Amino acid sequence: MAKSVKCPLTPAASRLLNTHPIEAQRSSHKRGIVVVDFGSQYTQLIARRVRELQTWCEILSWRSTPEAFQGAAPAGIILSGGPESATHDQSAVIPDAVFSLGVPVLGICYGMQALARQHGGRVASSGSHEFGFAEVSRVGASKLLPGGDAAAMQVMQVWMSHADRVDALPPGFKATASSSNAPIAAMEDDDGRLFGLQFHPEVTHTPQGLEILERFVHGICQAGRGWTTREIVRESIDEVRAKVGKDGVILALSGGVDSSVMAALLHRAVGDQLRCVMVDNGLLRLGEADEVRAAFDPRQGNALPLNLRVVDAREEFISALARVADPEQKRSIIGETFIRVFEREAGDLSDTPWLAQGTIYPDVVESAAAAHGHADLIKSHHNVGGLPERMKLGLIEPLRELFKDEVRQLGLALGLPDGLVHRHPFPGPGLAVRHLGAITSDGLDVLRRADKIFLDVLREYSWYSEVSQAFAVLLPVRSVGVVGDARRYARVIALRAVVTSDFMTADWARLPHDCLAEASNRIINEISEVSRVVYDVSSKPPATIEWE
Ligand code: XMP
Repeated sequence: MAKSVKCPLTPAASRLLNTHPIEAQRSSHKRGIVVVDFGSQYTQLIARRVRELQTWCEILSWRSTPEAFQGAAPAGIILSGGPESATHDQSAVIPDAVFSLGVPVLGICYGMQALARQHGGRVASSGSHEFGFAEVSRVGASKLLPGGDAAAMQVMQVWMSHADRVDALPPGFKATASSSNAPIAAMEDDDGRLFGLQFHPEVTHTPQGLEILERFVHGICQAGRGWTTREIVRESIDEVRAKVGKDGVILALSGGVDSSVMAALLHRAVGDQLRCVMVDNGLLRLGEADEVRAAFDPRQGNALPLNLRVVDAREEFISALARVADPEQKRSIIGETFIRVFEREAGDLSDTPWLAQGTIYPDVVESAAAAHGHADLIKSHHNVGGLPERMKLGLIEPLRELFKDEVRQLGLALGLPDGLVHRHPFPGPGLAVRHLGAITSDGLDVLRRADKIFLDVLREYSWYSEVSQAFAVLLPVRSVGVVGDARRYARVIALRAVVTSDFMTADWARLPHDCLAEASNRIINEISEVSRVVYDVSSKPPATIEWE
């Protein structure tokens, strides 16, 4: 049976872990799936796959409170994988609240092992780490696996990533698939309520993975298909109106996808109650403030006739960041300075008590993981992690529950132009996390010019829309070069371009050599402070997309 667990949380962690709205009665389109996070890199991917099936899905930590599980009122639960070993007594456990809900449970990888262990099975080290493609053979009738009862001995290609495995089934369970390295590669209980998969159905490397998830979500859990773009638009607008009433809302418009979609949404929801402010924090790309101003200027007949003011806060940000080299400290300073500027901008708070922020679901999940001390946290996002404790403005975060692809769908549904909706994302802390080490105005200037050249060249070669994100990074080193006949001891620029569907994993883009050569030549020829250009060929993981 499930063991109970006591793990002390900091107040900040409790706040983050339990921030999802606990509604007395969940609206029917949100009776979906909860993913219990054990710290897997794939947790968010599982949730996105479920939402692709038009079923609502949210992520709760294994340390969330019983009330959080009850409030979510899911039709089924998926237990994620995780970095811990289920062979250790101290490792993460499935909370009792999961089982007391009485809904079907699917454990993936570590989730399966924890399920087995907590029901009287045995988990052991498999001797070596199995990572990559594997073949599993069906060994028995299954409600979960494709082919149902009729597919005994059928072989399926799957993706494995594990060092432990279930080596004795819990009482009342049977094996349904087996591989050479994991004789119990899939299992389910006799009641057809508890399921385990040693492999990962959520990754595209398991070709029948989505079908397996669909069988679980719609077939076994009978979760609804109400999570559609139409529903997202309707719900987002209703929520904003309910929260804001007749109050004013101030929005930090950066011109990026998230804030632009938010502007469209808020404009639709509350009309003239919305005031947009763009902060020129000195960390924007070349000409960006002017571009945004032009894009939303009603006099130019643009789609969104917004009430927009551009605030010049360059000096304030750059001096707050002076001599700060630590990336997390930079994020925190930028977050705090942003809030201060907005508080000032809002003026009379009785008139504009709400600040809209473009926090999206991955920010929330990653920051929650940080708060409860997951070693696997990559980096905190300034939208969430850097918020000062005592803010004067109330926060609305209308995209807080959405993944990036859902934000884009929402933008298109609200009538934003495709070019704006499919713009590469730009991080909130801007060029601060691309200017490695302590920031200087000169360094930012070099970085800005190099970045502009790189993106221009990508567009010329028709590669801008082929990659998901591309940018230049200023390295904190100097290097020797020879330009003309003269020795140049100058800056080094790294170029980064990645392809990804979710920004959680990413591959470096195989840009044509001619395109790279053109970008490099132009940067070195046109920017005298640069002597060398390098191209980043690391994927995520193990690297991240940004360098800081
Ligand atoms: P990483 O570097 O974590 O980036 O692989 C994933 C995506 O997130 C963006 N990013 C940020 N966005 N505040 C943001 O708003 C941040 O602090 C931040 N850090 C990274 C990054 O540009 C990429 O799209």
